[in-house]
Amino acid sequence: SSYDTIISGGTVVTAADTFKADIGIRNGRIAAIADKLENGTEVIDATGKLVLPGGIDSHVHIAQPSGEGVVMADDFDSATRSAAFGGNTTVMPFCFQEKGQSLRDALSWYHGLAEGQCHIDVSFHLIVSDPTPQVLGQELPALAEEGYTSFKMFMTYEGLKLTDREILETLTAAKISGAMPMIHAENDDAIEFLREKAELAGETAPKYHASTRPIPVEREATHRAISLAEIVDVPLVIVHVSNREAMEEIQRARGRGLKIYGETCPQYLVLTAEDLEIPQAAKNVCSPPPRDKASQVACWEGIEQGVFDVFSSDHCPFRYEDTAGKMHPKGEKSFRWIPNGIPGVETRLPILFSEGVKKGRISLQDFVALTSTNHAKLYGLYPKKGAIAIGADADLVFWDPDKQMTISQELLHHGADYTPYEGFEVTGWPVLTMVRGKVIVQDGALVTSSEGSHVVRDKPLG
Ligand code: URP
Ligand code: ZN
Ligand code: ZN
Ligand code: ZN
Repeated sequence: SSYDTIISGGTVVTAADTFKADIGIRNGRIAAIADKLENGTEVIDATGKLVLPGGIDSHVHIAQPSGEGVVMADDFDSATRSAAFGGNTTVMPFCFQEKGQSLRDALSWYHGLAEGQCHIDVSFHLIVSDPTPQVLGQELPALAEEGYTSFKMFMTYEGLKLTDREILETLTAAKISGAMPMIHAENDDAIEFLREKAELAGETAPKYHASTRPIPVEREATHRAISLAEIVDVPLVIVHVSNREAMEEIQRARGRGLKIYGETCPQYLVLTAEDLEIPQAAKNVCSPPPRDKASQVACWEGIEQGVFDVFSSDHCPFRYEDTAGKMHPKGEKSFRWIPNGIPGVETRLPILFSEGVKKGRISLQDFVALTSTNHAKLYGLYPKKGAIAIGADADLVFWDPDKQMTISQELLHHGADYTPYEGFEVTGWPVLTMVRGKVIVQDGALVTSSEGSHVVRDKPLG
């Protein structure tokens, strides 16, 4: 027959259009898009469903060491299973370089953990924590040639944070190697100043996590990061933007003609700092912290106006009932010891669809761009990923736009023991996830196991 699989009767949605069509798949790639296709070994009926490019979550943390005695709740098996159930076909986790470690050693460690364990495709960003001349002059350029074409820098966190000088040097390596730099923008000295004051005053509850990382901490660092990128003349992605003032720094930079990209996340649309004042508030500790209602409105405006190119989960799962997680023994003494991060890889698409598309804030095209296509474009995966087009990987999701669900821990497949979105009601849910032509999840069940592989990327700036 002509096709291995035909997807028939669905409504295809891309970042540009919505149209009714059949999709013919051959050897894991899209071979035809037409009114009506015949001769498929297998035919999958998509009548009444939207057929979308699979979600690409370009900001997830999997099996990343996170401080003394702290262990992430997901390995590559559980994280990518959860991602698949949430309508994702590619995730981009971080490969964290320890101080003194080469990037290659870090990569071989993460590849060892991922090999044969992944249910969807995976492509690593690097985290540069030790920007030695060897790392910047030899390793980064060589790895960019090999398809590792993006990396994250931190302005906060002991053991990760870079000085301004180091950021300038690292941005220069990005420029030379054609890799896309990303940055976590928070002023670490300001945070430490505020934390020490809070702790001396006995203010150690989780809510002080938010008050010691106020908006100016993020706004200032965002401005500084943009200035450093401007000095080097290189694009930069500002990840997990939480509020209007940081967003305005991005808008102003773009006004000057700079290539500054923005990312926001579900927690900044639906959580606030008040979620750090409830019982078990440690569950919602993440950085930057969720802000207030006005910041949620601002982040929606940023989404609607295209300030945010990508909407990612920042999935960073820890178990609550676990001394290796949110219940870390020292966390009783101060919020400073509560591991930062919340799970969300499975709930990202439903939250944006329900709150965004269903509530009339964004179009279906925006939804696809924000959850898939723009991630592929930004990080060198396009048009292999993030597209429904001839030759693209058949990474597809069937979406039931009317399915009503209440988000709950029992529903989800991550390794965390809670979801920050417990009880949150959504309309719209993924009902089938296909990676390179193979059905991974269908009607709430895992159909195929471990079909994911590592994706080599093009140079975004090359
Ligand atoms: O709190 C967060 N976001 N933890 C994950 C690490 C990071 O900074 O992205
Ligand atoms: Zn590998
Ligand atoms: Zn970060
Ligand atoms: Zn993160």
